[in-house]
Amino acid sequence: MISKYVFGDPIDTEAVVADIEPEAGRPKFGSIDSTDGFRFTYTMGEDDIVYGLGENVRGINKRGYEYVSYCSDEPHQYEDVKSLYGAHNFIIVEGRDNFGLFIDYPSRLTFDIGFTDKDILNIHTDGCDLVLYIICGESSYDIVKQFRRMIGRSYIAPKFAFGFGQSRWGYKTKEDFLEVVNHHRSAHVPLDMIYMDIDYMDNFKDFTVNGKEFEDFPSFVKDMKENHIHLVPIIDAGVKVEKGYEVYEEGVENGYFCKREDGSDFVGTVWPGETHFPDFLNPKAREWFGDKYKVLIDAGIDGFWNDMNEPAIFHTPEGLDEICDVMQEFIDDRNSHHVFEMTRMVTELANNPKDYRSMYHNINGKMVCHDLVHNLYGYNMTRAAGEAFERICPGERILMFSRSSYVGMHRYAGIWTGDNLSFWSHLLMNLKMLPSLNMVGLMYTGADIGGFGSNASRDLVLRWLALGVFTPLMRNHSADGTRKQEFFRFENEEDFRAVINVRYRLLPYIYSEYMKAVLNDDMMFKPLGFVYGGDEIAKRIEDQLMVGDDIMIAPVYEQNAVGRVVYIPENMKKVVFKADGTVEIKDITQGFNYVKLALNEVMLFIREGHCIPVGDAVEWVDDLDYSSIRMIGYPNARYDLYNDDGIHKDYDNPNNIETLVME
Ligand code: GLC
Repeated sequence: MISKYVFGDPIDTEAVVADIEPEAGRPKFGSIDSTDGFRFTYTMGEDDIVYGLGENVRGINKRGYEYVSYCSDEPHQYEDVKSLYGAHNFIIVEGRDNFGLFIDYPSRLTFDIGFTDKDILNIHTDGCDLVLYIICGESSYDIVKQFRRMIGRSYIAPKFAFGFGQSRWGYKTKEDFLEVVNHHRSAHVPLDMIYMDIDYMDNFKDFTVNGKEFEDFPSFVKDMKENHIHLVPIIDAGVKVEKGYEVYEEGVENGYFCKREDGSDFVGTVWPGETHFPDFLNPKAREWFGDKYKVLIDAGIDGFWNDMNEPAIFHTPEGLDEICDVMQEFIDDRNSHHVFEMTRMVTELANNPKDYRSMYHNINGKMVCHDLVHNLYGYNMTRAAGEAFERICPGERILMFSRSSYVGMHRYAGIWTGDNLSFWSHLLMNLKMLPSLNMVGLMYTGADIGGFGSNASRDLVLRWLALGVFTPLMRNHSADGTRKQEFFRFENEEDFRAVINVRYRLLPYIYSEYMKAVLNDDMMFKPLGFVYGGDEIAKRIEDQLMVGDDIMIAPVYEQNAVGRVVYIPENMKKVVFKADGTVEIKDITQGFNYVKLALNEVMLFIREGHCIPVGDAVEWVDDLDYSSIRMIGYPNARYDLYNDDGIHKDYDNPNNIETLVME
């Protein structure tokens, strides 16, 4: 049951697709004060669990900290950070009462979940034009499903996108890409995608290709495809200010860029230098920008990642002027400012709220300050692309994921979780974030495996790959200047082959579970408590997940660990994919168990009475041989295998499901 309450005059974010009549009166749970801003307060029971918030730091249970919904370019995903790239204002309170709550509000919103006052949930914002939805259901899982139905079916990626992808900020030349392909193919380490970071462009200009390095780009794309590799270029939000550059010229001429208050085009510096930001909240600008993807699709490209779309702004001319003045004062008088003050000022130049307050959109002919709609920017950039793909190649799936997002964007794309670090704690954070992302419809997701910033060690990459085996997006990506972390930079390449092979052996299961989850508004990654609700221990487990309906995973996430303690919520089959390609299957009993796992192995647990399909390893998705599938698990168990051609959109065809029985 969903109740909708409208406060003030909210902006239509198009997050929700269901038609729900607003109710008069006040919600059954919590109290609301909307006299000055908006405040929702609720007293939590001592043992209540709070789920949700999509892309954010900390645990599956969000209780005990304060989070801020304000899409942020945040490369330091430390524990004290409050906002990451997305804004997903959905939570579930489970315990004394059970309800879900979604606040459709596109600006800054704070969720204090027992941080200031241990039992008080306090959600507040300065604005008061918003829509509040309260969802009641029999369980948290049921509440998620209702919410998901309300926000519409999630984006579906093409099947090749479930293969392994290699990426690195720093691949510049054809040779850089060929080096990766050659290593993979000669060592027989599977590979389906190579990502093209900003250096493929001509001076970081969107929808251009560096003609010196890629003389005949379409034939390069074709050659790669013949080798079963999809190239996936990045598209940034900012458009370089450069006379004669078509995208810039057209945007200026048609008034498609965000403005300053005086009506001039807003300028912010990003990778290309000074840029303008397309006004993705203006449908005409959205259509115009979206159509630009065609130039790359025509060159044979069938996947993209949208970046810097919070939008990230390194600095504005105004911000820089201010700093220069302070610097000048310091040069003139060394006692005029403290050096810490200047360091802070320089750090705060980037993504400064002041800049977001001086940028304007044209929404239905009305100038609207960016700050008020900040969280919709990346969503609408990605929507621009998604809507364009429908026009350009309506019957085909295009791979698309974004950095920034808001609820609603899940209908157009997935996300990757941005600039993490090569930290063991970030491997664990990746795991914990997955169910929260699924709750808000973000199904095609994954983190930068091995970590983006800082230097990765061999064991970290291997352990992270062993988690990545289960995430729809399985991509190794790292930042320029950090230690290179492709498999061939490390010793014993066969260990990497062993782990990545497991992904391809399990791909029939992973793809099937992803598709069934999307088509049924369900989650692929569930906290244990969603399945074993009556088990008080299972409900508190934060480092294991249910993946699909049939298995549980418990990745190793600690340096030098040779195994870990796993909580087994019911008798299960422990399955270990060994480095030599054999599969070891043993019974494991309910309770806490210590399990060993070598660096080159992957482990999963099959639920009692279930079975899963396992195929042969192949080097690219197109080569998967479904006739090699054998079932592992419990005798007589049945499994509904979803499969389709992975290219077209014939999703709801009943022939896509085949029931397999374990002998
Ligand atoms: C941003 C992205 C990262 C990318 C880099 C250069 O930091 O999050 O993935 O590699 O920009 O484009």
